[in-house]
Amino acid sequence: MQQAIKVTDSIYWIGGNDRETDLFEGLWELPRGVAYNAYFINDEKCAIIDTIKADKLSAYMERLVSIMPEGRTIDYLVVNHMEPDHSGSISILRKLYPEMKIVGNKKTIEMIGAFYGITEGMIEVKEGDVLDLGRHKLTFAMIPMVHWPESMVAYETSEKVLFSTDAFGGFCALEGGIFDDELDMALYEDETLRYFANIVGRYSGPAQKAIAKVRALDLKIICPAHGPILRSNPQHIVDLYDKWSSHKTDEGIVVVYGSMYGNTKFMTDTIARAACEAGVKDVIVHDASRSNLSYIVRDIWKYRGLVLGSCTYNTELYPPMATLCRALKNKMMKNRVLGICGSYSWSKGALAELQVFAEQGGDWKLVEPTIEVKSSPTETDLELCRELGRNMAEAVKAAEAK
Ligand code: FEO
Repeated sequence: MQQAIKVTDSIYWIGGNDRETDLFEGLWELPRGVAYNAYFINDEKCAIIDTIKADKLSAYMERLVSIMPEGRTIDYLVVNHMEPDHSGSISILRKLYPEMKIVGNKKTIEMIGAFYGITEGMIEVKEGDVLDLGRHKLTFAMIPMVHWPESMVAYETSEKVLFSTDAFGGFCALEGGIFDDELDMALYEDETLRYFANIVGRYSGPAQKAIAKVRALDLKIICPAHGPILRSNPQHIVDLYDKWSSHKTDEGIVVVYGSMYGNTKFMTDTIARAACEAGVKDVIVHDASRSNLSYIVRDIWKYRGLVLGSCTYNTELYPPMATLCRALKNKMMKNRVLGICGSYSWSKGALAELQVFAEQGGDWKLVEPTIEVKSSPTETDLELCRELGRNMAEAVKAAEAK
């Protein structure tokens, strides 16, 4: 039987790892899996923080019963977030523990009714309300739109533990270790940024409000709903979230191309080389047809500069590039510099759509020249590409590190 893992003397991790789901939310690749964290608090009243995705209930239940004191029941289930990777087992928990009160805010309770048809045995909490378990007290804070409207966190005051739901979490299953001091955190920080950029990033404004609330707490441990438990330096992940959600970027350029026969790729390779020769160390090139969108968006979130190059396909933007532009517009990114180029053979289209993206797709400062090539680039075209690469380098270096 799988065992609960001790976080403190009376708080336990009872979550599970998922290495079977290929795509999170049906969209985002999970090459190293994902963890769904949940917690048990043993006190005069026993409480669970969140459930688990329904098809991962087995490990969760084994861990829960491994630590449940003899003759006790679950008094409270705190539902910090209703996305089904965390709420998916509420119905079964309620059947197993019919007296268990479900604790959530007004929106949570509405959603539990809509998702699971449960309307009885609820405790509604508001900002600042306290749930008394005995020695442990959970104080609730609302963090709406990080990244759902009902999202909230619970702060346990006696041990200074924050149950932060999706905030500060990331992709990647927990590989033996569950704490930040047990794991290679470079990998987890990359996966946390990929999670942030794709899942939370659109809601950077609400994330900033949540961070302000978290900064007011005396924090010892952050227990997020995904990724490692942060106990060695919990402020570090708060600082990273603060940086990402305030659109502060690193000096570097992401170059993304959509190319059928290599001509657009030739242009963007030339731009990338020129930027590198102009002194930009971090130049990352993605093929829009082959890199999973989540990795492209992660890298774009990290770096100040972006170059998009697209061939024309049936008089429009190449489909993978159109998907990327739609995703970037949805993310509402700020404080970035953008270079664009396109190609066509018998009808224009790609560059015009990239120009519309530059104007309407977010807070992009367009770097000249924009380049449009018929069929394959001439030496004159390639010199324009080199000029764009140099100008991009200058722009990302000149831009204030915000
Ligand atoms: Fe991990 Fe928004 O659910």
